[in-house]
Amino acid sequence: MSVLQVAVVPGDGIGIEVTAQAVRVLEQVLDQAGAGLNLDYFDLGANRYLETGDILTEADQEALARHQAILLGAVGDPRVAPGILERGLLLKLRFGFDQYVNLRPSFYYPGVDSPLQHPDGTDLVVVREGTEGLYVGNGGSVRTGTPQEIATESSINTAYAVERVVRYAFELAASRPAQHLTLVHKTNVLVHAGGLWQRQVEAVAQHFPQVQVDYAHIDAATIYLVKDPQRFDVIVTDNLFGDILTDEAAAITGGIGLAASANLNPEGRFPSMFEPVHGSAPDIAGQGIADPIAAIGSVELLLANNGFPAEAERVRQAIMADMTWRAENPGQRRSTAEVGDAVLAALN
Ligand code: IPM
Ligand code: MN
Repeated sequence: MSVLQVAVVPGDGIGIEVTAQAVRVLEQVLDQAGAGLNLDYFDLGANRYLETGDILTEADQEALARHQAILLGAVGDPRVAPGILERGLLLKLRFGFDQYVNLRPSFYYPGVDSPLQHPDGTDLVVVREGTEGLYVGNGGSVRTGTPQEIATESSINTAYAVERVVRYAFELAASRPAQHLTLVHKTNVLVHAGGLWQRQVEAVAQHFPQVQVDYAHIDAATIYLVKDPQRFDVIVTDNLFGDILTDEAAAITGGIGLAASANLNPEGRFPSMFEPVHGSAPDIAGQGIADPIAAIGSVELLLANNGFPAEAERVRQAIMADMTWRAENPGQRRSTAEVGDAVLAALN
């Protein structure tokens, strides 16, 4: 029997609580499928950093690399200056494992609370580039802290990396019923990077005549997302635009507590990483009240991208059942573990 090797990184804050529920779901669904699962826990995050000064060592990276997938909770802690763990752990993993597709689906489950009047039918996936753009840290400052300070932060866009993420997005669009792809950028101002993205989309589109191609500027896209989200199917965009747009997409489909994501190295040269879009939420950490659905949705993505499509679909149905329960029982508060219990029960 082949055994799925998963590295679990609960991380900080509510990451620990929601990951515990996600792991229960992963264990049960693979057990029911008669498939093998091996979990290795990694103590990475604020506590380890504060105790040892280590964030992600080479030995950690080598150990993680021996797994097919990484299940990550959340990183970030008020005791650690902003940016340290984000750059030293999360982004280091995304970059180091060349997870160039940051896949972020937003599906509106009927009955779920939404700030929109007409959220029904929203079913979109943002394919966010994960290794380049403004996230690479290509910048610096001089005369720092003085009135004469100069700071730069340059966006890196290579034809190679844009082409591969665009190709992934087209393949995804071609596999979905709507077969529609929207490039989101700001080509009217960011003419250099925007031109590169536009030309890569035009070139790859030649190979996917069945996919209808659209374009929206990032500012307009934020309006369309609240006024007419059903117009979107697959969105492909750069790292920062994708970061912003996926928070908005989560907000309109029931909130960040539901939003799952995958950081994929599609060729499998490195492990892919699955994580909720939300952060460590220090304000509610330790209370057992965080919604584990985003983490459980990340298990669905983990299964779908590691050869278990039927099991992924079972998790999806269980999440859907929980969403229906919520719609029928408005105002009911449940603990993190109780939501986990309900999802496990729905899997039986
Ligand atoms: C996300 C987060 C991260 C990002 C931060 C924590 C570095 O906001 O996963 O969307 O900007 O990518
Ligand atoms: Mn974000």
